[in-house]
Amino acid sequence: MTDRAYQKCINPGCRAEFDCGEALFKCPACGELLDIRYNWDKIKVPGKLNEFAKRWGTRDNRLDFSGVWRFRELLSYCDDEHKVTIGEGQTILQQNDAVARYVDMGAGCLHLQYEGLNPSGSFKDNGMTAAFSHAKMVGATSSACASTGNTSASVALYAHSCGVKCTVFIGSGRIAFGKLSQAMDYGAQTIQILGDFDDCMRQVQAVCTKLGLYLLNSLNPFRLEGQKAIMYRIIEGLGWDVPDWIVVPGGNLGNSSAFGKAFSELKELGLIERIPRLAIINATGAETLNDLVNNKKLRWNEGNVEQAIIDDYYADLTARNFSPHTCASAIEISRPVNLKKCLRAIDVCDGVVRAVTDEEIVDAKAIIGKYGLGCEPASAATIAGLRHLRAEGLIGADQRVACVLTGHALKDPDVTVNYHKKKQGEFSNAPVEAPNDLDALIKLIR
Ligand code: F0G
Repeated sequence: MTDRAYQKCINPGCRAEFDCGEALFKCPACGELLDIRYNWDKIKVPGKLNEFAKRWGTRDNRLDFSGVWRFRELLSYCDDEHKVTIGEGQTILQQNDAVARYVDMGAGCLHLQYEGLNPSGSFKDNGMTAAFSHAKMVGATSSACASTGNTSASVALYAHSCGVKCTVFIGSGRIAFGKLSQAMDYGAQTIQILGDFDDCMRQVQAVCTKLGLYLLNSLNPFRLEGQKAIMYRIIEGLGWDVPDWIVVPGGNLGNSSAFGKAFSELKELGLIERIPRLAIINATGAETLNDLVNNKKLRWNEGNVEQAIIDDYYADLTARNFSPHTCASAIEISRPVNLKKCLRAIDVCDGVVRAVTDEEIVDAKAIIGKYGLGCEPASAATIAGLRHLRAEGLIGADQRVACVLTGHALKDPDVTVNYHKKKQGEFSNAPVEAPNDLDALIKLIR
């Protein structure tokens, strides 16, 4: 156990505190989300961010090799002996002028943070290394999650790497095949519920409460601590400078919440001078955040979020029997569990929210595939969203922008193949049928 960190309820009317030795996923006193808070005076945080770079030289130490634990003083809730790592966070920030042209940005301004390069192929590994370390710290032996796919793949990989059992709940027919294949291959008990992600999320909380399983969704505050490292690595990739904007897809809103927390802590510690702005991009088929923020004007309001607006919105979804639909299945979520923390991040980062159509997403994905390292549909929502923000003039052509590409291109081959073979978009690149004949083949080469 540690006196360096504790858990604290985000509800200003409650503010209950709990030891990090407890495995909680909601405040037992009021049911709100929990944060991890630090007693910074008890932690030796480097005085400058670039001191973390020294750990590149000691990469034979497993913690220095990890792109999360390399920054361990900034998530100091657990002793080294419990830390679980499989080498996550070896991801890159790529400056990409071709994609910049597509969104009408200047040369040298657009950066793509490739989280698909993680061991399970998505950003989730940043969170799982942190959550499984906590799971080991509290002696958990069985775990569970609900997932649109990537969480389940990451949980399955980490669970077996540290000897914890896992069960993953996914919505039947709602998961991309790359992700489903990972969960099965990595040995997770995979339960397909006749319902969508929001149904899975509700059920997994009940199952975890009844059976005492360790919950690995982003309700788990320790998971979000690991996801802060994505921001540290972007800053590192920019020579320890902050960009003007971070653009991220919004699903269950764990990333956006974690990013806001990362920046407010860095500012509080005096490690950065300014906080970048945050743009969170929904798909129009799953645009709860966009609706609540832009239409219903829901705000953080120092923690006094108007619950009635959320309750009315969800009651209407229920009355309409609404289920979200988008080709970006990773973010096909209508009741995001981290909504309030995300509102806080929007407040801290002067954030904005936009929604983009599936057509915009698949075109942007094709551009990233053609000129970058490729990504899955949800990740491409960032570039589609950035295009809107450029057209509106909210983001300047010469501002420095980092888009978080959250998942690998091979996660969802169906969307990619259909886009190209069925000529669904402007950048479709369909394969050519040809006879098994040399002359005919030579004529076809362009
Ligand atoms: N991008 C990808 C590739 C994802 O898998 C997810 C979420 C998101 C974006 C949204 O991130 O929830 O932090 O806003 N996937 C979850 C899952 C829900 O179950 O794999 P968020």
